[in-house]
Amino acid sequence: MEDLLKASARMINLPSTGLTILLYPWIFWVLWTSRNQLLFEDKFFSETEMVAKAIKAAKEWQASLPDRKFVSDSPKDCHPSNSLPQVPAHCHLMCSDAAWNGSSFQGGLAWICKDAANTVTFQGTESRRYVSSALTAEALALKAGLSKAISSNIKDVICCSDSKVLIDAITGNKNVTVIRGILHDLGVLSNSFSSISFKFISRKCNGPADLLAKNALFLLSNNPSVVGNSID
Ligand SMILES: *[C@@H]1O[C@H](CO)[C@@H](O)[C@H](O)[C@H]1NC(C)=O
Ligand SMILES: *[C@@H]1O[C@H](CO)[C@@H](O)[C@H](O)[C@H]1NC(C)=O
Repeated sequence: MEDLLKASARMINLPSTGLTILLYPWIFWVLWTSRNQLLFEDKFFSETEMVAKAIKAAKEWQASLPDRKFVSDSPKDCHPSNSLPQVPAHCHLMCSDAAWNGSSFQGGLAWICKDAANTVTFQGTESRRYVSSALTAEALALKAGLSKAISSNIKDVICCSDSKVLIDAITGNKNVTVIRGILHDLGVLSNSFSSISFKFISRKCNGPADLLAKNALFLLSNNPSVVGNSID
């Protein structure tokens, strides 16, 4: 038992588990369920098996948290498979993101637009008192960013979002009824560009927009009088 706790204490610090949530509650949970299985079902699990079960359960739990965002400022965590695309000389890269609170239904929207030289052309945030879902918030953030791109006279844009559902909905792989109205608006806005494409990027590659969105939500939830836009 003591060995297991020592082992688990070591496990918490191991980055290889891929966990961004705490592991120890799951170790206690598995200890408890394993104890019951030993007592009532005569099943025995080794310490290694129990730690493995705890990691598996923690991972399942983590994967079930769709709205939870994990900030990472470290570019090394931005894996190439879903990373930011190469931007042609004439083109701009617009990354949008949203932070959403499922209890209060408040949302923070953010967008950052960069040119091919990686210089920020514009960025901004918007907070909303009521947004019905995380997906809606992601779609609204993209819509806001595209509107700014149009008013900045940008003609060629690559839009990046870490919402796979949103990108799939836009690129036609999925029929998502809840955001059909916003999808229509996005289609209309898209007509203003000479070229436009949409790319899914991993959350870790969307760190700056993620941070802006979180800040917008934080400001709104801590000061209800703050509603609206802030654009630099
Ligand atoms: C979400 O909203 C609830 C209700 O207003 C609040 O208590 C909670 O702190 C918020 N959570 C975050 C992460 O802002
Ligand atoms: C999407 O689903 C709705 C009904 O949920 C349907 O009316 C519409 O035709 C579908 N669109 C596409 C492109 O499949």
